[in-house]
Amino acid sequence: MNNINWDTLGFDAYRTRSIILSHYKDGEWSPIETTEDFSFTFDPFAQVFHYAISCFEGLKAFRQKDGRVALFRPEQNAARLQRTAKYLGMPSPSQEMFLQMCETCVKNNLEFLPPYGHGASMYLRPLLVGMHPQMQLVPYPEAIFAVMCAPVGPYYGEHLRSFSAVIPGDYDRAAPKGSGSYKIGANYASTFKPYKIAHEQGYSELLYLNSSTRQFVDEFGSSNFFAIKGNKYITPLSDSVLPSITNKTLQEVAADLGMEVEKRPVPVEELAEFDEAGGCGTAVVITPMSHIDIKPVLEAPEVSRVFRFRPDGEVGPACTRLYRQITGIQFGELDDPHGWCHIIKK
Ligand code: PLP
Ligand code: COI
Repeated sequence: MNNINWDTLGFDAYRTRSIILSHYKDGEWSPIETTEDFSFTFDPFAQVFHYAISCFEGLKAFRQKDGRVALFRPEQNAARLQRTAKYLGMPSPSQEMFLQMCETCVKNNLEFLPPYGHGASMYLRPLLVGMHPQMQLVPYPEAIFAVMCAPVGPYYGEHLRSFSAVIPGDYDRAAPKGSGSYKIGANYASTFKPYKIAHEQGYSELLYLNSSTRQFVDEFGSSNFFAIKGNKYITPLSDSVLPSITNKTLQEVAADLGMEVEKRPVPVEELAEFDEAGGCGTAVVITPMSHIDIKPVLEAPEVSRVFRFRPDGEVGPACTRLYRQITGIQFGELDDPHGWCHIIKK
């Protein structure tokens, strides 16, 4: 048995029992392996080191109220990984292989799956990395697909509390016809420096604008953007944001709760009209924002605009309802009319 305190978990890498692996070479995936060895062996010329040929997924497993174990919409992650891999010219696992490896990962690491009642879950990180040693800028179908996991609590250290975000005037996330809608490691690399500066200034998140005109909201560094105006759930339509499975789910949840759903370009100015706003994603679940500042130069002290939604820390009624609904379904406390929970253990 481990000595994990399920109530104080954050969102961190964790060495569990095992990783599930397969290697693509010479046109086929190797038999799926379960290994307790947490080290990979790579050629120093491997694509991943020089050209960042790497992509990943993120999904959660939940111990439900009645003791069953569920993965949340894993087939959506399988499809998204295939789309990203195609963009990078990488081989990708079939949906069946993806699901089998995720299930095996949970079952092999069951002692790290948080018990029901602590608000904690198991985060699965399926990772696809380019292995081929080369210098040429050409795709080559050689890769490792690995599924690893970690027990996790709230991403920002506390469930259902509001945090703050900053729009950095001098940083972009994604080029107009670039890689923004794919879950590639390189998209995150460019966020590390602005995150460091933002965190030093007390902001929890970065909110990126569309890079061509900087007039519309794209997404947070870690999650999609959504807002509430009256009875409307509003989320940006943009080619350069990640198609979030949580956002897609929340759009259905909002409609089920009788809200109107709008997916359309969101002008920055409209932030002034929202009753509530926040981020949504597997890691952050729903994270409301108390306020979002615009800083023309992130490192400089000047704040050119403040959009306030709630007092610091407080959470609005719509975010609370949406949060209770989605987590209620994930933890098996509420009905799952859309069949989102993929039960892997009764
Ligand atoms: N946007 C970005 C940049 C992300 O990293 C994530 C996390 O996966 C999301 C949005 C949310 O996507 P999902 O809900 O599928 O986890
Ligand atoms: C997720 O929510 O699954 C993510 O990948 C976000 C992470 C990059 C912080």
